[in-house]
Amino acid sequence: MSGLRTVAKAAFESVENLFDRAFGPDLNPMHQLGALGWFFYWVVIVSGVYLYIFFDTGIDQAYQSLEYITNVQWYAAGVMRSLHRYASDALIIVMMLHLLREFAMDRYRGARWFSWFTGVPLLWFVYACGISGYWMVWDMLAQYIAIATTEWLDTLGIFGETIARNFLNPDILTGRFFTLMVFIHIAVPLFMLLVMWIHIQRQNHAKVNPPKGLAIGTLGMLLVLSLVKPAVSQAPADLSIVPTVIDMDWFYLAAYPLLDKIPGLVMWAIAGGGTLLLLLLPWLPPRRREAVAVVDLDNCNGCGRCVDDCPFTAVVLQKRTDDTAFSEEAIVKPDLCTSCGICVGACPTSTPFRRTSELVPGIDLPDQGMQALRDKVIAAAARLSGDARVIVFGCKNGPDLQRLEGPTVATMELQCIGMLPPSFIDFLITRHHVDGIFLTGCNMGDCHNRLGNEWTEQRLGGERDPYLRERVPRDRIGKSWAGLTHNTRLAQELATFQDQLKGLPPYHRPTRTPSGQQPAETS
Ligand code: HEM
Ligand code: SF4
Ligand code: SF4
Repeated sequence: MSGLRTVAKAAFESVENLFDRAFGPDLNPMHQLGALGWFFYWVVIVSGVYLYIFFDTGIDQAYQSLEYITNVQWYAAGVMRSLHRYASDALIIVMMLHLLREFAMDRYRGARWFSWFTGVPLLWFVYACGISGYWMVWDMLAQYIAIATTEWLDTLGIFGETIARNFLNPDILTGRFFTLMVFIHIAVPLFMLLVMWIHIQRQNHAKVNPPKGLAIGTLGMLLVLSLVKPAVSQAPADLSIVPTVIDMDWFYLAAYPLLDKIPGLVMWAIAGGGTLLLLLLPWLPPRRREAVAVVDLDNCNGCGRCVDDCPFTAVVLQKRTDDTAFSEEAIVKPDLCTSCGICVGACPTSTPFRRTSELVPGIDLPDQGMQALRDKVIAAAARLSGDARVIVFGCKNGPDLQRLEGPTVATMELQCIGMLPPSFIDFLITRHHVDGIFLTGCNMGDCHNRLGNEWTEQRLGGERDPYLRERVPRDRIGKSWAGLTHNTRLAQELATFQDQLKGLPPYHRPTRTPSGQQPAETS
């Protein structure tokens, strides 16, 4: 399984590098597949509601009402029909890419199983919506789908009568199944919305809206496609002849030709077995769990920063259980914790300036505690020499740090770059342990732990607690969100940063703040 993942990951990364160059990391659609799924869902819903105003739900009138929509009111309802179809196709594309990508990037096992597990039923819902939609047009394609689907359902032998019979003989055709399809086409998307909501319940700050530029560009492309190649019906259904389908929608109906070749029960076994395999994938094999974050009540003041920063909703606040003056305390839900360490980077008590006591933050990773990190960075800094001494902080899912090591460069691999409290940067620079700090990690917008590099940027930019103090000279901090593949670029950017450091005047720590106070060093 891991070999398969490696190949898939390499394939994604090479495609994504191209997209990065074309769109920039912020608008890279490959980093926004889940959000694009939501976006296409809403386009389908809005266009569908508009179409429903003009659509006649009777089996004899449906086709005519769609002809009116397409040919008479082509400028509004016609465009909506095309948008409805193309956004549905686009939903299939982004959903499949999203599924493959989550698999390739290994973001579906361990504590992250829930989103994967709840994503699997969405596959069935999306197909049920699309297939019932084609059925409602009641043209030759609909007739083909109706016969093929009901014959396939009949192979289960669970319906009292053979339901395909309804579509094989014009004399017994009733609107019964047609009405059922209309119902399915409206009810399933509503139910799907509920499952989509459940799907993101364990994602803190889930991205359900693509960036504005990407949304406008994507909608524009769908509109152009709708005008250039409007969605049309095929010849009307006629049960007295065998349907010859000329124009298949391969996004939704690719499996239909197989129904002619493979026995129905075998197809059920493939569909059912495939679904079961997908459902079980997070445990095939299960991920080795690392030690989860632990709260130290003596050092937790209940500020809630860890709750807001945890990408996986694994920390919550509860009523205080000790007799301190604080009203709340943090607790970790071990089942949800991925050991990413981002909460540690958020905790104001995670500061290397503390001298009076051991460095025990309010929340910490037992195997990679902050005390050990402080000891390691001080020791590493002491080994450096020259006038551009740099510590590079990276993450275990980012670029290879080893190859950057040298007499002037030491590297520290963290669980995630979001684990680094800004006070460590302050400490290392203002205490002259090093001349500069360089940060690296996953591509921006594609953090393995979802939010690590985004939170880091915000903390350094003063937009998110805990801030990096203003006194820390920003020209002594370098960054390169290099991802796994941009090792050469990373090395070049680090070299440029070191050259820049050499040109800076020596750093002197300000002795007094503008208000005349000694700079505080405890948070
Ligand atoms: C209509 C279809 C779908 C939509 C709209 C959708 C949407 C989303 C969104 C918005 C996120 C959160 C992204 C973020 O903020 O990081 C997400 C996460 C995720 N989705 Fe989907 N999804 C769909 C189908 C699927 C399917 C079919 C699968 C796989 C079977 C899947 C697997 C996952 C996983 C594993 C995550 C979480 C990854 C993590 O822990 O970071 N999704 N999805
Ligand atoms: S390590 Fe912290 S931030 Fe990461 S999942 Fe666990 S509780 Fe959340
Ligand atoms: S960030 Fe630290 S102090 Fe604040 S609630 Fe979380 S563990 Fe407690």
